[in-house]
Amino acid sequence: MGVGQFILRLATVAVAGVAVLFVAAAPKHGVHVEKEEWSFQGFFGKFDQAQLHRGFQVYKEVCSACHSMNLLSYRNLQEIGFSEAQVKEIAASVTVMDGPNDAGEMFERPGKPSDHFHAPFPNEQAARASNNGALPPDFSLIARSRAGAGFGAYEGADYIHGVLVGYREPTAEEKAKMPEGMYFNEGFNGHHIAMPPPLSDGAVTYEDGTQATLDQMSRDVAVFLTWAGEPNYENRIRTGLKAMLFLVAFTLIAYAAKRKIWANIH
Ligand code: HEC
Repeated sequence: MGVGQFILRLATVAVAGVAVLFVAAAPKHGVHVEKEEWSFQGFFGKFDQAQLHRGFQVYKEVCSACHSMNLLSYRNLQEIGFSEAQVKEIAASVTVMDGPNDAGEMFERPGKPSDHFHAPFPNEQAARASNNGALPPDFSLIARSRAGAGFGAYEGADYIHGVLVGYREPTAEEKAKMPEGMYFNEGFNGHHIAMPPPLSDGAVTYEDGTQATLDQMSRDVAVFLTWAGEPNYENRIRTGLKAMLFLVAFTLIAYAAKRKIWANIH
């Protein structure tokens, strides 16, 4: 292959690569998502435990009326610093259907730490029937599945926060195009959402004294949902860090050994 031809091929590959990056950067949801600062981001990122507790409170007191979280068990809450006794109490606050017992009957009992989070509706049809035909999605993986990719990368938390603070009054023109029973939301694809605004200032009372503003609660619950989707996130980062340190140390040793072995050969 001639040099000219080689350069031409190289250029083709480079152009194709850039094109692929641009396609990947196309926003997934058709809405502009504001990127916020989150404590869990970056190389030394870390969840703030108090924030996770507040986020769980918002989920439990508000969102769990409509959104299930099927992949989480109550005992998972110990991973974010709730004690065994607290987890028992939280689990026992819901009533679950169990059985059949020896008589072949289903029965109700208080929740146990090993139970999965209690779902608000028995099935999808019931969930839709209560929500103007729309399905409140399960929250187990919502943060992960709504994260953006490519150049426009944003966290699932950015998206969740954006939806929660994205409600506003539609203009007359916008209102004319809205189907019955929908709400106008800047952060939701298509701007028409079946979820009534779930949060407003003071919707919950935080035990740690944090002011429960709309923005604060939206951030807290977005962070809790991020943790829920990736309970091992911090472990992974730490393992990655150790692997990097190992590689750096190994490279230095290999380099020193090479210098020694080749020292007398010219
Ligand atoms: C009264 C029921 C109800 C409550 C309470 C509720 N939601 Fe929703 N939510 C819905 C429904 C229904 C949808 C689906 C909307 C649609 O498809 O138009 C939805 C959709 C969403 C979406 C968009 C999901 C997507 O598919 O991208 C987010 C984010 C969300 N909810 C977050 C929350 C959070 C956080 C809370 C608690 C603070 C909450 N919701 C409380 C009913 C509810």
